[in-house]
Amino acid sequence: MTSKTRIIVSSDHADIPMRQTIAAHIEAKGYEVVDIGPTLNESTHYPKHGEAAALSVASGDCQLGVILCGTGQGIMMAANKVKGIRCGVCSDTFSARMIREHNDANMLSLGARVIGMGLALEIVDAFLDAEFEGGRHGTRVDMITAIEG
Ligand code: RB5
Repeated sequence: MTSKTRIIVSSDHADIPMRQTIAAHIEAKGYEVVDIGPTLNESTHYPKHGEAAALSVASGDCQLGVILCGTGQGIMMAANKVKGIRCGVCSDTFSARMIREHNDANMLSLGARVIGMGLALEIVDAFLDAEFEGGRHGTRVDMITAIEG
């Protein structure tokens, strides 16, 4: 991805400061960041935030997304309901690199209550610095897309 890539960032209430730190980190890497919140430190519902971020990626308005909730799981499940979205939860840098290189993931989900800030930023770096390899992996990603109908 180039620095022209627009990256949408969203979360539920689990760790708004972590999301804001990640957004600033991504911006510092030279990407354009669209942070759709929330900003209020009150309980909210992760499905709507996952869906909103996913719709932005699916429409092409943003090319990649980084989303967070407590475990990363619920918001990932919501995002993956949107056609064209391939989102994985990562708690390690190897998986974050591989979901780009092999699965052409267009969204990364993080568990804000699972990992610390330092690891979260390294996972984001691994995801953004990797490129899809295509080839036989493209065939398999096409098979995922075919399941969507
Ligand atoms: C909210 O308490 C929590 O359930 C949410 O952040 C997430 O972990 C759901 O998957």
